[in-house]
Amino acid sequence: MFNTNTIGRFQQLETPFYYYDMGVLRQTLEACRAASARYGFHVHYAMKANFNPKVLDMIQEFGFGADCVSGNEVKAALEHGFAKEKVVFAGVGKSDKEINAALDADIFCFNVESVQELQIINDLAKAKNKTAKVAIRINPNVDAHTHHFITTGLDENKFGINTWQLHEVADALRACASLEFLGIHFHIGSQITDMEVYKSLCIRINEMQDWFEDHGFKVKVLNTGGGLGVDYHNPDTNTISDFESYFKVFNDFLTVKPGQEVHFELGRALVAQSASLISRVLYVKNGQKKNFLVLDAGMTELIRPMLYQAYHEIENLSRNENQESRIKNQDFLNYDVVGPICESTDCFRKDVELPQSFRGDLIAIRTTGAYGEVMASGYNLRDRVQSVYSVSGE
Ligand code: LLP
Repeated sequence: MFNTNTIGRFQQLETPFYYYDMGVLRQTLEACRAASARYGFHVHYAMKANFNPKVLDMIQEFGFGADCVSGNEVKAALEHGFAKEKVVFAGVGKSDKEINAALDADIFCFNVESVQELQIINDLAKAKNKTAKVAIRINPNVDAHTHHFITTGLDENKFGINTWQLHEVADALRACASLEFLGIHFHIGSQITDMEVYKSLCIRINEMQDWFEDHGFKVKVLNTGGGLGVDYHNPDTNTISDFESYFKVFNDFLTVKPGQEVHFELGRALVAQSASLISRVLYVKNGQKKNFLVLDAGMTELIRPMLYQAYHEIENLSRNENQESRIKNQDFLNYDVVGPICESTDCFRKDVELPQSFRGDLIAIRTTGAYGEVMASGYNLRDRVQSVYSVSGE
């Protein structure tokens, strides 16, 4: 929801840009912190969702840890004040350079995705006379019931170690003197809204921790990953994800032993609703079969619709200011809302019903705070998309 002051400010600015509503971000972080603190759960923010500096600074202020998937993310987390004891390094393909840098930084834990990776981290730690703390990422074969492209916890996915390889993992852990086993890690997918899925995950985690304990390993950390979804259809009426129900499922179904810590790696649910991509209509093309709104933003600024058929609300801010006049006087038309990139897939959505739109109108593409700005590219040698932040009164 944008007030007239905000839209007035947008009119003065060059488009496209990501607009961050820092108030929404703060409220979301407050809700997550309150709901997780009730059970003593630890949240690491999955930085891959958004590493905009101001976003990172605010998340860090709330005391969350950081879940990183590259050496540069580890570096950025530390630069933005995340405590090294709360930095986790995950990812299926960590390079030696990245592992060495993380060892030098004394981060909390490596989430390890293969037996070979365990051996490499052991060798690199040994060469530095250090002990690397590791958690084993297990592929639990739990279906996340989300989009195929963002499902990660099935046997067919490249992530994690499959359960039939656990004996090999146990042997490697026993043989690797420079590793300290901390616990087990899971992540089954993203944009998960069905809480039953998490219940299934809890049952698998309980089985897996029993397996490790039965084989002589003390499990200190249960890391459940991330994945909590947001409401892409109702950004104004359902802005904050249901953190209460989410954490309650884990409290109800996970067996937490004395001294164990439960960790979460939320990305999307913390940041998605705090940003919109603001763009202008460059051209209106009225075809025989279709009307097109050609925007000055495209897949180079926001690739989610093109990559995952993801849905985002689209609003014409220049025609929505006054609801009454909109209802009385405006014609509504269906448009394919497209970008300027030389690719047919460069379309944000087809058949979007909008008030009749004109060159220069401001268009907001909502719920783009997660996997938006961070997935921008320089394709077509486009300018880097800018960021604008809310000011008081907005
Ligand atoms: N932990 C691990 C190991 C992950 O791979 C991910 C996300 C997360 C945590 C955070 O998941 P979240 O809470 O944000 O769902 N670009 C895609 C999403 C890719 C998610 C990759 N992994 C999208 O735009 O939908």
